[in-house]
Amino acid sequence: MMRRVLVSAATGTIGRATMQLLAGDAAAGTLELLGAARSAKSADTLRLQGFTPVAFDYDAPETLLPALEGVDTVFLITGYTVDMLIHSKRLLDAAKAAGVRHIVHLGALAADDTPHAHFGWHQLIERTIESMGFDFTHLRPNFFMDTVWAGFRHRPDRIVHFVGDRVVSWVSSQDIAAVAAEALRRPDQHKGKTYPLAVEALPVSQIAALFSQVTQTDVQYRPRPAGDLLPSLLRQGMEPVYAAGLAEGVAAIEAGHLPLAGAVYDNIAPIVGRPPVKWRDFILQRLATDPLTPRGQ
Ligand SMILES: NC(=O)c1ccc[n+]([C@@H]2O[C@H](COP(=O)([O-])OP(=O)(O)OC[C@H]3O[C@@H](n4cnc5c(N)ncnc54)[C@H](OP(=O)(O)O)[C@@H]3O)[C@@H](O)[C@H]2O)c1
Repeated sequence: MMRRVLVSAATGTIGRATMQLLAGDAAAGTLELLGAARSAKSADTLRLQGFTPVAFDYDAPETLLPALEGVDTVFLITGYTVDMLIHSKRLLDAAKAAGVRHIVHLGALAADDTPHAHFGWHQLIERTIESMGFDFTHLRPNFFMDTVWAGFRHRPDRIVHFVGDRVVSWVSSQDIAAVAAEALRRPDQHKGKTYPLAVEALPVSQIAALFSQVTQTDVQYRPRPAGDLLPSLLRQGMEPVYAAGLAEGVAAIEAGHLPLAGAVYDNIAPIVGRPPVKWRDFILQRLATDPLTPRGQ
């Protein structure tokens, strides 16, 4: 029987990229691919991309069991909110009831004994997945390159960040999605594994310099104190408990107190069969595929 795979947060950064990578497998009939959609708009977005949406809203728990019926493997992705905890629990309870075997979880890179909130919450979810008896693959990416790109698209003259001059490590959504897609295609080869994902360690000043070189324009790094991050996140509408946890973690990085903040790993190429994407190529690829939309234009 064909294996059924459900990608949660399928319209988000990592979920969308994973759906795209699995589209060929679905077309070839090697797996049945479902994309979670919490609204009619998200379902339409997935349909327009050629995918099969399934109604799935973490805040409407009654939608979860029907979405998970007959599913073998789930990509568990939650958003930037403390509700990640209850959302994950609801998904895992429904997945257990539905007989799901394997959970691939999108977490975040930190030491196992991290005291910082949102990293710790991801690790609590990992432990819950394990203790509930699921087969598991834990993905632990460090900073997404995509977040810097998202800011640059709208303000191509500068990059703002809150980690000062610290060297931190980065990974692109396409590499995270490529590892996720492999784990979803061949869960038995990746069960029991935890994959830290970070391919290049650079201070943000050097990333701005790379943007300048590649675009042949002046792109400046505008460091801001880590203490400015919380008010900035709250202004952007981020849920306050998560925002405080994130800001506290970034302050620890700025102070040099987060042990793996600059760690890199060479595990992506052996999993996906190609080298990972480093900053220079990431910028070139994005410039070619994702037009700039400077504010005010
Ligand atoms: N950014 C980083 O540098 C970084 C680094 C390490 C780890 N992470 C982790 O990455 C994760 C976020 O992934 P992402 O950036 O791909 O997320 P994202 O782009 O913000 O996408 C969020 C997704 O969640 C969906 N969603 C929101 N509320 C929902 C609900 N109530 N029910 C069902 N779906 C809902 C959204 O659907 P709609 O489209 O319908 O809104 C969207 O598909 C977080 O766990 C974070 O800790 C991020």
